[in-house]
Amino acid sequence: MTLRYSRISGWGKYVPEKILTNTDLEKIVDTNDEWIVQRTGIKERRIAAENESCSTLAIKAAEQALEVAGLRADDLDLIIVSTSSPDYLVPIVSSTIQHKMGATCPAFTLVTGCTGFVYGLATAHQFIATGTYNHILVIGVELISRFLDWTDRNTCVLFGDGAGAVVLSPSSTPTGIKAFDLGSDGEKGRELILPGIGSASKIDYATLDRGEHYLRMNGREIFKFATRILPKSTMQVLENAGMTLDDIDLLIPHQANARIIDLSIRRLGIPSEKVYINVHKYGNTSAASIPLALVEALEEGKIKEGDHLCLVSFGAGLTWASAIVQWGQPLGEEEAAIDESLIWDLTSIRKKVALTSTKVRVKARTIAEETAYKASTLLLPLYTFGGGKSAKRSKNSKTK
Ligand code: COA
Repeated sequence: MTLRYSRISGWGKYVPEKILTNTDLEKIVDTNDEWIVQRTGIKERRIAAENESCSTLAIKAAEQALEVAGLRADDLDLIIVSTSSPDYLVPIVSSTIQHKMGATCPAFTLVTGCTGFVYGLATAHQFIATGTYNHILVIGVELISRFLDWTDRNTCVLFGDGAGAVVLSPSSTPTGIKAFDLGSDGEKGRELILPGIGSASKIDYATLDRGEHYLRMNGREIFKFATRILPKSTMQVLENAGMTLDDIDLLIPHQANARIIDLSIRRLGIPSEKVYINVHKYGNTSAASIPLALVEALEEGKIKEGDHLCLVSFGAGLTWASAIVQWGQPLGEEEAAIDESLIWDLTSIRKKVALTSTKVRVKARTIAEETAYKASTLLLPLYTFGGGKSAKRSKNSKTK
């Protein structure tokens, strides 16, 4: 049972300055603008500079989100970073981000590929719903260009770098995350794989020569999966929310390929005006794709107070993740204070229950002890009398 709602109280995005167009790509690999636009809808993508990393992109988006939420880094209770392209395998990039931002809260990294941001939202929602935490930063960030083989036209034309972030905060009124649908099916996991970095194999010259430190993909298989799962998960999350397609004001799908989106919405029967697309500007930014699209839809005035959004993602694993979010503007400080006071706090309820039962046990033991004491004082004269008798007896016995 959900006792608290979680609403998006802050949002931000960051994309690297460098734009790589399809025409630029024609000079690098055997491809052309017409093919890329027709098959994917992508016109350009952003590529991180050499001095940028996953954490630097993430922090820029996160700082904006905090500013919108009116919070400081040390107000955060948790940071969840969704990425498949961290600065290092160790240390964990979420801790790097937490430290560099000046936050003091716990932080962890969630790796589910392109579905990471929605998985992160669903996870953050649990902590807020149960009253464990109040303000949670969820970041979707990817610096995937470092893992692309720039001689492989099957992959390098599709992806781009970027970051998006939201702050989730509690609300006493029904808003924010209404339902989600999470899924995983590892059977076809190897159709989208970065084979050479991980404990399954040792990195050596041979693996590097074979380019196993780069992303490899069976595009057709992923296409089939995506166009099947996108409509399916949309319907499932609507069912979980007790809603229908007509209740959705804006569908924000994972921005992998405009053709995947087009085919899926035709299967669903959703008009294209109700679907947000920005894949032409950024390509597939994996875990950053949904938050980037969400923030841009807001910036373009496509989301109004009270709107129901459906976020749908699919990706490596293979995984899928969808969420229904009702949009609600951040509350003012005064309202937020009232909001907080109205909220049922499960943690404190549990604490109160535990405290009360301890008090009852202490009281019961006290009553029992007091009764025993009273009984013993009542019996004292008898005891004394008996004692006297026995004393006399012993005296008598002595005199005998
Ligand atoms: N430029 C020019 N030609 C290209 C090309 C490129 N960048 N990439 C592939 N081709 C060629 C192929 O070699 C093939 O040529 P052939 O017919 O002579 O063999 C032809 O184009 C068709 O290739 P195909 O793979 O069948 O194209 P497609 O219509 O399936 O489109 C994808 C390829 C990758 C765009 C598409 O399969 C896709 O989007 N898949 C999903 C990818 C995805 O979303 N991944 C991330 C998931 S999170």
